[in-house]
Formats: sequence, C-alpha cells, structure tokens
Amino acid sequence: MERVRAILDEASVMISGVEDQRTLEDLRVKYLGKKGLLTELIKYLGDLPAAERPKMGKAINDAKNQIQHLISDKQSRFEDLSKQKSLQKDILDITLPGRAEKTGKIHPISRVMNEVLEVFSKLGFSIAYGPDVETDYYNFEALNIPAHHPSRDMWSTLYVEGDVLLRTHTSPVQIRVMEKQNPPLAVVVPGRVYRRDADVTHSTVFHQVEGFLVDRDVTFGDLKGALTSFLHYIFGRQKKVRFRPSYFPFTEPSAEVDVQCVMCGGDGCRICKGTGWIEILGSGMIDPNVFKYVKYDPEKFSGFAFGLGIERVAMLKYGIDDIRLFYQNDLRFLRQF
Ligand code: PHE
Repeated sequence: MERVRAILDEASVMISGVEDQRTLEDLRVKYLGKKGLLTELIKYLGDLPAAERPKMGKAINDAKNQIQHLISDKQSRFEDLSKQKSLQKDILDITLPGRAEKTGKIHPISRVMNEVLEVFSKLGFSIAYGPDVETDYYNFEALNIPAHHPSRDMWSTLYVEGDVLLRTHTSPVQIRVMEKQNPPLAVVVPGRVYRRDADVTHSTVFHQVEGFLVDRDVTFGDLKGALTSFLHYIFGRQKKVRFRPSYFPFTEPSAEVDVQCVMCGGDGCRICKGTGWIEILGSGMIDPNVFKYVKYDPEKFSGFAFGLGIERVAMLKYGIDDIRLFYQNDLRFLRQF
C-alpha cells in the first residue's frame, strides 16, 4: 500500500511540473502503460493473502484513476494554451468590409439590339442573317442601284476586290431572303455594316437592323403603324414620331422617321441641331423594281422596308455623345449599363 501511495505522490509532483505534451505522454507510459509502475504492482497481487487482495486491487485502481485524471487535466490545459497562441498569431478582423465579386454586363449595343429584336418578334417578325462580305449585286444592283447611278454616293463603300465589298447596309439581306422565300413574310435582320466614315457620330463599323414585310395589300399605313408602335416601345408612348418624305433607290415612296428629341423633349438643343427632332430610321414601300429581281409579282404583292442604326438608338436612349465610347472597351464606361 505504501508503494502505491509513493507512486501516486511521485506521479502528482511529476505531472504538475510537466511543460510539454511529449513529457506528459512519457509519464503516462511510465505510470499507466503496459509495463508501467502501477501495472507492475498488479502482478504481485497473487502473492498477497486472499483477504487482502481486494483492498489492494482497489487501491491500485484508485491510484490509476487519479493519475489518469491528472494527465487529462494537464492535457486540456495544453490544448487551451495552443489554441490561444494560434488565435494571437492569425488575427482576423471580422469588421473589415468584404470583397465584392465583379459581374459581367451586357454591352449597351447588344442590349439595344436585343431589345429591338424582341419588340419586332412581338410584332410577328422572324430573324434572318446575311454575310458581312457581300457582292455588288446584293448590296446595290438588286436593290435598284445600277453601277452608273449617282445614288451609290449615298454609301461610302469599302471594297474588298472587284465586285466584292463590305456591305454598307443590311438591305442586301432583303434580296437574299426574298430569293428563297415567298410572301407573306415579315423579317428582321440584325448585323454589322461598314462605311468609310469616322467621327463622333459615325463609326467605320456599326450595327443596323433591317426589317421588311411583304404580303398582299400592304400599305403605307401598315408601315406607319408598325414603326410607330416600335418607336413607342423603345422611347416611350409619350414621344412624338413624324414621317418625312425622303429618297432611297429601293423604296418608293420613301420616308425618314424622326422621334421627338430625347435630350430636350422637342425644344431644340445641340443634339437635334435646334430642330427638336432626331432622325432614327430610313423606310419606304419596297420598289416594284426590287420585286422584279426576286421574281415577285408587283401586281400581286406590296411591302414595306426600313433600316435602323443601333448605335444611334443607344446614344439617344442613354445620352451618349461620342460613338467611339462603344468600341473602346473602357470598363468605367461599360460598368454603367
Ligand atoms: N439601307 C438604308 C440605309 O442604310 C436604310 C433603309 C432600309 C431605307 C430599308 C429604306 C428601307 O441607309
């Protein structure tokens, strides 16, 4: 019994003086391990008189439990200490503001383009595409603009080689669609067009949406109705719209369509050059000569067509006064949409 007492006393002193985990583990092995001091004592139980064995057994067990307890205590103190240390080391300021993820935006030209196409699809138009690199035939000839005709001057054309050019408008797709499909049809054509022109309101490459509708008995009233609805969708119902006589070789009669200036509301300003109106699209009734090129019977069918510049609409909608901003990819500009 004295030996048990002595082991327990010694263990208490040793354990309370330990300063690292490793030594603590060594002590556990020394006292409680398979060959530990207390474990050793159990071997001698058999030498004792039977009457004393239970008492002795209990004393050894109690001592074991106490030592185990002291070790666990010490163990958890070590754990607290190391937690504290790592907290001091990795300071985390939970009051710092977070870092926001930057999300992508749809380019203003794509936005306006999508919006325009959506309005026309509500009006029952379907979408068609044509090539950017065109031939003289589709860009001019079949649109009633023969080689000698002075109206070719309306488009500052970029030529690739011989009869091949970069389309100056989306109108050639009228011909391409009508060659393949018979009336009735209502089609819009989004696309890039190219002109030898560049300043604050003109870009060498810009975007147009062409639209045309062919059926029996289509009138100028249908043209006015469709384009007025469209412009009201885009600029708001309260905006006035006017149709002004104009000239295009492939439409007869032709009209340019103006919207009440979105900047000044019609009072007159720098943007509308004091007129209160802004030209927004070209349009007209498809010339019977164009129908001849696509083998439609002009006695049976009539139709209207129009062409709209997307950059122009975007500039007016968002109050942008320099077209080059659309192509510079300056994030400070693009993030505003
Ligand atoms: N293609 C003409 C242009 O770009 C616009 C237009 C299209 C006019 C259709 C009338 C009809 O100037």
